[in-house]
Amino acid sequence: MNMLITGGAGFIGSHVVRRFVNNYPNYKIYNLDALTYAGNLENLSDIENLPNYFFIKGDILDSIFINTIFEKYRFDGVIHLAAESHVDRSITDPLAFVKTNIFGTVNLLNAAKDVWKEETSNRRFYHISTDEVYGSLGKTGLFTEKTPYNPNSPYAASKASSDHFVRAYGETYGLPYIITNCSNNYGPNHFPEKLIPLCITNIIQNKPLPVYGDGKYTRDWLYVKDHAAAIDLVFHKGKNQETYNIGGFNEWQNIDLVKLLCRLLDQKLNREEGTSLKLITYVKDRPGHDLRYAIDASKINKELGWRPSVTFEEGLEMTIDWYLENQEWLDHVTSGDYIEYYEKMYNEKETNQ
Ligand code: NAD
Ligand code: TYD
Repeated sequence: MNMLITGGAGFIGSHVVRRFVNNYPNYKIYNLDALTYAGNLENLSDIENLPNYFFIKGDILDSIFINTIFEKYRFDGVIHLAAESHVDRSITDPLAFVKTNIFGTVNLLNAAKDVWKEETSNRRFYHISTDEVYGSLGKTGLFTEKTPYNPNSPYAASKASSDHFVRAYGETYGLPYIITNCSNNYGPNHFPEKLIPLCITNIIQNKPLPVYGDGKYTRDWLYVKDHAAAIDLVFHKGKNQETYNIGGFNEWQNIDLVKLLCRLLDQKLNREEGTSLKLITYVKDRPGHDLRYAIDASKINKELGWRPSVTFEEGLEMTIDWYLENQEWLDHVTSGDYIEYYEKMYNEKETNQ
């Protein structure tokens, strides 16, 4: 099997690539990534010399290039993770999200449709999406696969649009597809612009922990390797033209999560209890901030037997240890472009407490 994984140098993609390269030595795994600020080949240094792994540097916006590699490698399966993925960036630059997440996905769909036109059996286009397409929950309820799409951020709208295109290619051209919508991931290699890695790195460096609004927003957190395991299972055992929700059964209000990280890191760093809590800084809220996400993952659980294998305590401990042991990785990703972005984002936000 020749497999294309897009966005494999990013956070979730690197865990998916590693899992497939290690678990399926008979597959050839092609990782296509443009290496934007979020893509880092250091994430895969442990597997880069394995004989079934191949890296292709390329942009999914380049349709000629995408068609050429589909013609050349005749991929049997695609797992599509390449995307612009950060909500705050989508608020300052929505068009970048329209381009990569919508046009980029359509370029891949066109290429797959064209090379698979004679033979669609044993082919699969697996699109990785997010629970954010469903919009916001109130204090109760869960997102199911039947929840209507109601995206609130430009990121969520671009992912919703790409999901619709994937489904439409299934209906119109008979393209064999699967979509999964997953909740917030955390774990090693997470770029430190998202809440958990940002707080871990800022606590280590004694920097402020920016909590948006009143901090009462709720997210459902899943350890990234459990997401990669779900993706493996769905790719091999899922049903075509279906969607599956993936979640952590693990809801946390942001402020409680930040306080938990402070406690855990004070212990790890042998700091006096309560030291890091002083770093918590309430800042201006994100516009259009979704109150609560929570996934009903009973379909994937009943049909495919998946559930998370790691508790939040175990996952956070492994994540914190990874950041403490990989300061060099952090130094590399926190240089250059990212610093500029970080300063722009956070200098604009005034503290309100
Ligand atoms: P990420 O931002 O860490 O990585 C994205 C990767 O895509 C990077 O390696 C980047 O270089 C690459 N990329 C970006 N634009 C590209 C382009 N034009 N051409 C080729 N490569 C390009 O993202 P992530 O957090 O790993 O998310 C991966 C996927 O999972 C995304 O589709 C995202 O929407 C989805 N998802 C993420 C989460 C989460 O909590 N992070 C949850 C659910 C779903
Ligand atoms: P984030 O990690 O950006 O993921 P998403 O917006 O995709 O859910 O944010 C998680 C939650 O944390 C979200 O409610 C926004 C909030 N947040 C903060 O309070 N401070 C921060 O610095 C960041 C990045 C996020």
